Amino acid sequence: MSDECFKYKGIQFSSRALTVKDLEFVEKEFQVREDDVFNITYPKSGTIWMMEILSLIYTDGDPTWCKTVPCWNRVPWIEAPATEKQLQKKNCPRLFTSHLPRSHFCKSFSGSSAKIIYTVRNPKDAFVSLYYFAKRSIFFEEPESFDLLLDKYLSGDLPYGSWFDHIKGWMEMMGKENFLLNTYEDLQKDLRGSVKRICKFLGRILDDAALDSVIENASFSNMHKNSMAYNILWADAIMKPGKNPFLRKGISGDWKNHFSVAQCEYFDKVYKEKMCDFYVKFPWD
Ligand code: PPS
Repeated sequence: MSDECFKYKGIQFSSRALTVKDLEFVEKEFQVREDDVFNITYPKSGTIWMMEILSLIYTDGDPTWCKTVPCWNRVPWIEAPATEKQLQKKNCPRLFTSHLPRSHFCKSFSGSSAKIIYTVRNPKDAFVSLYYFAKRSIFFEEPESFDLLLDKYLSGDLPYGSWFDHIKGWMEMMGKENFLLNTYEDLQKDLRGSVKRICKFLGRILDDAALDSVIENASFSNMHKNSMAYNILWADAIMKPGKNPFLRKGISGDWKNHFSVAQCEYFDKVYKEKMCDFYVKFPWD
């Protein structure tokens, strides 16, 4: 673990992003409301995409909010230091984002009917995305190599811990009425169908024109043009200079351009071991 990181309840976090106080606040003090909606992901799995989709769904497809307010403020990370101050100002329903594992999530969520949308992405693609992000983010030490970062990824020795534990922890909620499993791959394959499913889950009724607008404004190309979709000010503060780090390629299967045969076999072996007791099948399985 790097000097820039600390552990809280067994999980690693970046001290440049968070403090123990932020994590304790979320876990012990944050008061979940029944109509809260949470966008939960393991990093690099489609977080910002879902922020945009939710913002558009709750404005009936009107992109004004998305184009004028940074996603960071529209659907804030509950664990981010500034969020505590914003809580009182937010209207209902409140939309939040989090990368936290289930074990570190708000205690007050237990028994509530607040909704969780949990987005999962092929971990090989999420890893490639993280590799490029880590090269530029101040939250990470510059990875020495793809191989070394891969080792850390597979052993969970990175901020927010292990992909496997994150998935297994949250998927314990599978089958509950207030939990929706979504995949990055489904968003890619059928964005309209996915948005309709999300609307149904949230109890939002959008007409065809509103749906068309959600699809159009949440497309990769339009989000790329919208600096509020990744909060350019924040990006400037936490990233070394370069191209947009949050919207890099936006495709599924980019791992094939990066993994060697040996790295792929190693990944598959660990994946098989860690997921052998797991019953849900994902699009990449
Ligand atoms: S973060 O830093 O954890 O919040 O990053 P996160 O938003 O979870 O993941 C970033 C990746 O999601 C891709 N992305 C999209 N793909 C397709 N369409 C749209 N609209 C879209 N929006 C974000 C983004 O490009 C990152 O993936 P990579 O593979 O790096 O391109």
